[in-house]
Amino acid sequence: MVTLHWRIVTSAAPERNAVLPDAGAPGIVESPPAAQRSEATMSDDNFYQSHWIDVEPERRERYEAMFQWRDASEPLIAPADISAGQTVVDYGCGPGGLAIELARRVGADGQVYGVDLNAGFLETTRARAAEAGVEARLDTRLLDGDIIPLDDATADRLICKNVLEYVPDPARTLDEFHRVLKPGGVAHVIDSDWGAFMYESGHQQDADDFAEVMRGAQIAFRTPHIGRRLYGLFRQAGFGSVQVRVLATPDVKGGMRSVLTNMASYARQSGDVPEALLSSFSSGLDAAVEADTFFAMLPQFLVTGVRQG
Ligand SMILES: C[S@@+](CC[C@H](N)C(=O)[O-])C[C@H]1O[C@@H](n2cnc3c(N)ncnc32)[C@H](O)[C@@H]1O
Repeated sequence: MVTLHWRIVTSAAPERNAVLPDAGAPGIVESPPAAQRSEATMSDDNFYQSHWIDVEPERRERYEAMFQWRDASEPLIAPADISAGQTVVDYGCGPGGLAIELARRVGADGQVYGVDLNAGFLETTRARAAEAGVEARLDTRLLDGDIIPLDDATADRLICKNVLEYVPDPARTLDEFHRVLKPGGVAHVIDSDWGAFMYESGHQQDADDFAEVMRGAQIAFRTPHIGRRLYGLFRQAGFGSVQVRVLATPDVKGGMRSVLTNMASYARQSGDVPEALLSSFSSGLDAAVEADTFFAMLPQFLVTGVRQG
């Protein structure tokens, strides 16, 4: 049984309340200045992974500020149906914003495992959990390749927000999600599909440049079209009752300029897109906001599936 919901949010003021791809969207992180740029460069043939492992201090600080829980993100996690007493895995937890919110929700009888491939993020998650008073119910696990370091049938829920476009083999990772869930447990994945990213500045030249920028930015993603692939991946991993929802929030105020700027920075690191095009594209963003012709939208795919008995 497949349920496909399109929910177009017609708010024209996305800044505070709309469901923009928030901290979870990778593109929201702007490129650091060249002098501070990570050792992870295009010379890596797995830049899509290395740029998460090798995160220089300035960029880490920015991530830690950005990957916070926001009430406006509630619709993104609602289908996971989190409640007191559950054991929940937050796969790709980053510096812990969502994991700490989950720890609050599962209460004293519940347990959250924050899993990531970046040891520094896990350290920050533990420190923040202590500040929030939820450290007794928030444990962290460093990933070992594709393997989640948890026993079979550990969790009632597994949430994975804006991570699967980076993993080396999404099918293998979905198999791991299935393995660590208890029978009847629910996996809930939230992700973008970079082929569904829309931007319009009001100038044809910028539309052409956007296509070039997105072509160059592909280096940052292992599976840029992960959103549309999630249903099939869930089914192939053996999940039942798979539901797909899409939340799409139009941005006409420029809230997604940072996402677009970051795409330009990835394209720059690809070495494959002319600098003049990148500069003109970036300055066109501000011009579009000033002219009140800016439009951007990055739908978020929300997919849930139940581990069968
Ligand atoms: C865009 S951030 C999302 C963080 C968090 N889920 C959120 O929405 O705030 C992507 C996260 O995925 C992690 N990540 C990247 N590749 C991964 C992999 N192969 N397995 C697990 N986590 C990974 C990164 O270290 C980072 O914490």
